[in-house]
Amino acid sequence: PLRRRVPKGLKPPPGPRGLPVVGNVLELRKDPHLALTRLSQKYGDVMEVAIGSQPVLVLSGLDTLRQALVRQGEDFMGRPDLPSFRLIADGQSLGFSPEVGEVWKARRKLAQNALKTFSIAASPTSSSSCLLEEHISKEAAYLVTKFLQVMEEEQSFDPCRYLVVSVANVICAMCFGKRYDHNDQELLSLVNDSEKFGEVTAAGNPSDFIPLLRYLPSRSMDLFKDYNQRFVRFLQAIVKEHYETYDKDNIRDITDSLIEQCLDKKEASTAARIPNEKIVNLVNDLFGAGFESVTNSLSWCLMYLVTYPNIQKRIQAELDQTIGRERRPRLSDQGTLPYTEAFILEMFRHSSFLPFTIPHSTTKDTVLNGYYIPKGRCVFVNQWQVNHDEKLWQDPHVFNPERFLNAEGTEVNKEDGEKVLIFGLGKRRCIGEFIARRQVFLFLTTLLQQLEFSVRAGRKVDMTPRYGLSLKHKRCEHFQVKQRFPMASLS
Ligand code: HEM
Repeated sequence: PLRRRVPKGLKPPPGPRGLPVVGNVLELRKDPHLALTRLSQKYGDVMEVAIGSQPVLVLSGLDTLRQALVRQGEDFMGRPDLPSFRLIADGQSLGFSPEVGEVWKARRKLAQNALKTFSIAASPTSSSSCLLEEHISKEAAYLVTKFLQVMEEEQSFDPCRYLVVSVANVICAMCFGKRYDHNDQELLSLVNDSEKFGEVTAAGNPSDFIPLLRYLPSRSMDLFKDYNQRFVRFLQAIVKEHYETYDKDNIRDITDSLIEQCLDKKEASTAARIPNEKIVNLVNDLFGAGFESVTNSLSWCLMYLVTYPNIQKRIQAELDQTIGRERRPRLSDQGTLPYTEAFILEMFRHSSFLPFTIPHSTTKDTVLNGYYIPKGRCVFVNQWQVNHDEKLWQDPHVFNPERFLNAEGTEVNKEDGEKVLIFGLGKRRCIGEFIARRQVFLFLTTLLQQLEFSVRAGRKVDMTPRYGLSLKHKRCEHFQVKQRFPMASLS
């Protein structure tokens, strides 16, 4: 590659020497988040590696990430134009396309507003405080029944198989106004194949950086293409149905509200700046991002709960004491269950299941910590490193929710909570964080109020993560549940 000249007085970022042609690819072949964390200990928070012949900037350290993504947010908000990203949502994705101009900004705002509107809107039934609570509460209650039913039929089961549909149903309800049965084959084939997505979009996938590899036949690439096409077709059919039944006096869901923005473009509105097709296809990003990481959060929760039964008991004791057994948990209980909330934070931190954000790129020539970084440089943001940094955490490899609590165990330390990096930072920070945190909270508390989780005697879960866009554990078919008390009494 042509190394641009570094301006006087500035240095290029340090980094390991790479081999010709492949660069540092061999060092990063297995668990790149761990390899890059090790390398950052030697070269620092701002370092450069080569993947193939392409230089990639790797950022670590909480202060450095806050500097780059927040204070110098505009400089670091781009997305690299990677071949695999062009296959997502026909290259029009809000999250993966290289676009960052005015149209992109308006689209992000529109998507944020749509999510917000359809979460906080009042629920038509009086039992819930808002639509979001209504959807989650309904799906979580259904999931409890489903777990008990499969437990009775099969004596043990893989909870992910059911979690994914329940979580997908929440975002489906918001986006499309519908829910799917746990045996719906079309939905199942989309949500269960999301691994194909994570393998290819993982930070550092060699075929995104080494052109030669793209000419070799690749099964994972073929599956990825097919997956993205099925995804777009699935959504197109739903959007078409919405257009056909659209009624401007009855906006049913996010899809309807996006259609409304297209049909009735008020001057000076956010939507006026965006071509119509780039409005409606925002549901692609919302649905796509909306189920995978929440499912993964809950599935990591269950793994920790069966591995540490005493932690599970302590959460249940807190639920019994604060909520009792007469009513279901609600979103307004957030803030009153410190141990449960510390457990969720510790699950995010310890698993760091999104080890890197989606890759960024620089939008202009810039300087970070005294190092010169040219425009268009691909940037990996190492969240895993921050969550396991010994400078920030005592015994970072130990799973210990109490690290987030004050000495009396009555309060979560807010500052420590904000050190956990899992939603990114700054201008690309996740737009679903609000919904995601509420979903994890309400699913988890609803499940644990009523059920006790364990694995079949003599079995152990395998928590070894497999690398991808998100870290996943092996599926485990040996989960069991026991009902904690008769359910009829719950309102
Ligand atoms: C982007 C995490 C749930 C919508 C992201 C990013 C992360 C993230 C790390 C990339 C940030 C970056 O590139 O710097 C998570 C986690 C979730 C979650 C951990 C669950 C626990 C959701 C949900 C939605 C959503 C429920 C929508 C309903 C998005 C979108 C983007 C995004 C649209 C792209 C934003 C952009 O590129 O500007 N998320 N997310 N996420 N997330 Fe989430």
